[in-house]
Amino acid sequence: MPSEEFRRFGHEVVDWIADYLADPASRRVLPECAPGDLRRQLPAAAQEHGEEMQRILADFRDTIVPACTMWNHPGFHAYFSVSSSGPGILAESLIAALNTNGMVWKSSPATTELEQVVVDWLRQWLGLPQCFGLIFDTASQSTLHALLGARCKADPESRERGATANFVVYTSAQAHSSVEKAAMALGFGQRNVRKIAVDESFRMRPELLRAAIGEDRANGWKPLCVVATVGTTGTSSVDPVPQIADICEEHALWLHIDAAYGGFSALVPECAHLMNGCGRADSLVTNPHKWLFTPQDCSVLYTKHPEALRNALSLVPEYLRTGAGDAVNFMDYSIALGRRFRALKLWFIMRYFGREGVARILSEQVRMTQALARKIEADQRFELCAPVPLTLICFRRNGSDEDNQALLDRLNASGTAFFSHNIVNGRFMIRWAIGNIHTTEHHLSRLWEMIQHA
Ligand SMILES: Cc1ncc(COP(=O)(O)O)c(C=O)c1O
Repeated sequence: MPSEEFRRFGHEVVDWIADYLADPASRRVLPECAPGDLRRQLPAAAQEHGEEMQRILADFRDTIVPACTMWNHPGFHAYFSVSSSGPGILAESLIAALNTNGMVWKSSPATTELEQVVVDWLRQWLGLPQCFGLIFDTASQSTLHALLGARCKADPESRERGATANFVVYTSAQAHSSVEKAAMALGFGQRNVRKIAVDESFRMRPELLRAAIGEDRANGWKPLCVVATVGTTGTSSVDPVPQIADICEEHALWLHIDAAYGGFSALVPECAHLMNGCGRADSLVTNPHKWLFTPQDCSVLYTKHPEALRNALSLVPEYLRTGAGDAVNFMDYSIALGRRFRALKLWFIMRYFGREGVARILSEQVRMTQALARKIEADQRFELCAPVPLTLICFRRNGSDEDNQALLDRLNASGTAFFSHNIVNGRFMIRWAIGNIHTTEHHLSRLWEMIQHA
C-alpha cells in the first residue's frame, strides 16, 4: 500500500474509531443475528484479485460491525465488563506498524526492555514485592505457565522425564475454569484437581483445604499447588489469601493467585485490603485487559521463581543464539516463541491515566456499584445473591429460575444492555458487571428503571 493511500485511509479509519468511541451507546450491544447469518453474507473463498480499500472499509462498516457484540458499549454488563481506551487503541496501531517480535532481546530490545519496565511499574501499583514479571495474552496462559513453574520447581526432572501422575492442584469450587484446564493441559488430569468447597460468601474454606491436603498426603498423592482467587468470575468473591498462604507455607506448596479481574482493587483505597497476603504468593496473574482499559489482549504473570519457569521451558536452538550476554530473552520463560509488543499499550495507558487517574475511575465504579447494589437490595421484588466486594452484582427477581431467565432474555433482546448469568448453589442469577469506562451512573439508573419495569 503506497504511503499516500495509507495516509488517506488511515485518516478515515481514525475518524471512524473516534466517531464510534464518541457514542458507542448509539448501537445495539448484542447484534440482531443468528448463527451463520454473517457467514452466509461472505464469499466462501477469497477473491483472486485485490480490491479497493474503499470497498473493504464499506463492508467492514455495513457487514462486520452489525454482527459484533459491542464490548465498548456502556450497557455491556456481561462476563466482566471490560473496555479499551483511546491511548491503548492508538498504541495497538503503532504495535502493528512496528510489528516487532520480542522473542529474544536482540530481536527487538525495546520490546523486551519496555516489558520489563511496565510490568515492574504495574507491580508497584499493585503493591507486590520485587519479582519477575512477563506478559501473556490471557490469564489462562499465565496460569498454565504458573502451574508449569510449580511442577518444575517441585520436580525438576519432569522436564526430561515427563510428568508424573500424582501431583495435586487445589483451588476453590468457584475458581475459573482456566485452572482446571491448565491442569488438564499439563497432564495432571482433572481427577487431580481438588475443588475445595466455599463458605456462604463463596470464599474457599481454608480448614477444608488443610484437611484435603492432609488426606491426599496420607494417601500417597503429592500436593503441589494452591490456586486462590481475588475476584472470582461467578460472584467476585475473594478467597482468604492470608490463611491460604499460611497453609501453603506449612506444606511447602506453590501459591498461585488468580487476580485476573480483582488485582486492580489494590488501586482503590476502600478495596485495597482485598489484596492482603498476595505478596506472599509464588505467582500471581492479573489482566490489564480486564480492568485497566487495555485492548484485548494483555495478561501479566508475576513470579518469585523465574528460574523454575526457565528450567521448564528454556530451549535455545542455534538460530536463536544471540550472544547478547545476560540480557533477558522472554522466549526462555514461555511456551510461545513469538512475543507481541503488548508492553507498548500498557505503557501508553499507565502514562496517559497515571496511577491517580486509574484509581479515580476504579473508585468511582466501585462507588456506583455499591450504590446500585443498595437500590436492588432495598426493592422487595429483587434480592442480591452474593456479597458485592468489587464491581459485580449478582441478583435475581422473586420467582422461579425460568422467570429470571425470561427477564434476562428480555433485557438482552432490548439491545440497550447485555447481562450474563450464573447458577450458584443451584439458583439462577443475573450477573451485572460494571467496569466499562463508558458506563456512567446515569446509564446504570436508566437500566435499573428498565429492569424494574421489565
Ligand atoms: C477470575 C478469572 N480468571 C481467569 C479468567 C480467564 O481469563 P482469560 O480470558 O484472560 O484467559 C477469567 C475470565 O473471565 C476470570 O474471570
